[in-house]
Amino acid sequence: MRKILVTGGAGYVGSHTVLELIKDNFSVVVLDSLEAGHKEALGEKVTLEVANLSDKNRVLEIFQKHKPEAVIDFAAYLAVGESMDNPIKYFENNVANFVNLLEVMEKSGCKYLIKSSTAAIYGNPTKDSDIPWKESFTESYKPNKSALLEGKWNGAAVAGEDFFQRFIDHYNSIYSGRAELRLSPDEISKLRIPLSIYGLTKAIDEIVMKKYDEMSGIKSVALRYFNVCGADPGGKIGEAKPKPTTLMVLAIYQALGKVLELKIFGTDFPTIDGTGVRDYIHPSDLATGHLTALEYLEENNRSEIINLGTGHGSSVLEVIKAVEVASGKKVQTKNYPRRSGDPSISVADPTLAGQLLNWQAKYTLSDMAETAWKWHSENPDGFLRK
Ligand SMILES: NC(=O)c1ccc[n+]([C@@H]2O[C@H](COP(=O)([O-])OP(=O)(O)OC[C@H]3O[C@@H](n4cnc5c(N)ncnc54)[C@H](O)[C@@H]3O)[C@@H](O)[C@H]2O)c1
Repeated sequence: MRKILVTGGAGYVGSHTVLELIKDNFSVVVLDSLEAGHKEALGEKVTLEVANLSDKNRVLEIFQKHKPEAVIDFAAYLAVGESMDNPIKYFENNVANFVNLLEVMEKSGCKYLIKSSTAAIYGNPTKDSDIPWKESFTESYKPNKSALLEGKWNGAAVAGEDFFQRFIDHYNSIYSGRAELRLSPDEISKLRIPLSIYGLTKAIDEIVMKKYDEMSGIKSVALRYFNVCGADPGGKIGEAKPKPTTLMVLAIYQALGKVLELKIFGTDFPTIDGTGVRDYIHPSDLATGHLTALEYLEENNRSEIINLGTGHGSSVLEVIKAVEVASGKKVQTKNYPRRSGDPSISVADPTLAGQLLNWQAKYTLSDMAETAWKWHSENPDGFLRK
């Protein structure tokens, strides 16, 4: 497969994958609304089509014009907090627009899809042995109550179980005329695992992918990324979000004096230093993960769901230390109580990625801090150059 269409390719993770595709001589078309992406993140060799996945006719025209052999889909909203306040916005972009993309792929005869999924699908561990997370957890664990936290429906507060039911009812009402997209009781029980609407939308997407495999032969790989941080070691691209929410970027913003203090939520977790432990992964490692997943689809013509993580956990304090070493500056922090729903530890089991894709993460936490520091300190306003 040499011609790839990348949705959301002008965003943070997408642009790092596009860079790798171009290095590997793929012909790349990026379809991006530029709502959160930056055309400056794309090199000259990339063809950019500014379009929104909500506009099915336009997306179909783009497919007819370029005839991609495969799609890598990064386009989504991903702010967990916002998803709890505005679930319909997340339904529309992360579920309905994704179904639009699959419909267009079906019509155009495009048979391969790589999709950004997320560790947010896993929710909270039920027992210590659930960590590191294996992909099979979401197959074997069948809760009968949703783990979804309290959120808002039409602006009014709703408790988790009610929130979940309303979201599923909304899905069913939108697709009431499409029996093939109906959710079975078994599928609904899997959807009870995530804590957030964001995680739930991605869990629905994975189910929809399975349905499109069965009904249209679209073979796909869902890649469940863990916590992404770091920037292109070449220094040309990096994360450029107007309101960053990730720990490493916020620590760097504090070191740069852009925020007053870095908030640490929870110092009494049962971890090495009391702070939460997560699996951090560099976007250039994710990029090679996507390329190997493309090869896998071409060679095996088989759908998979695969974790992309390092398999190593780092605590909040370790991330801050890595930023301090990379920047040579002290990060000012303030301790706060735990946030509801934050697990103490979330780490990937990357065995399957090793077995199926022969992929392994290369970048360390220090590499992530060094590359991110280089990017943010040289480009404090992201792609808005002086
Ligand atoms: N960044 C992370 O830590 C992380 C972790 C796990 C999973 N993911 C997933 O990876 C993907 C990319 O994340 P990111 O951090 O690069 O986000 P991002 O916001 O930087 O990139 C998303 C891109 O998609 C585009 N887009 C969004 N909706 C669109 C639509 N309807 N039509 C066309 N373009 C649209 C945006 O303009 C943007 O360029 C997302 O699907 C996200 O859920 C990210």
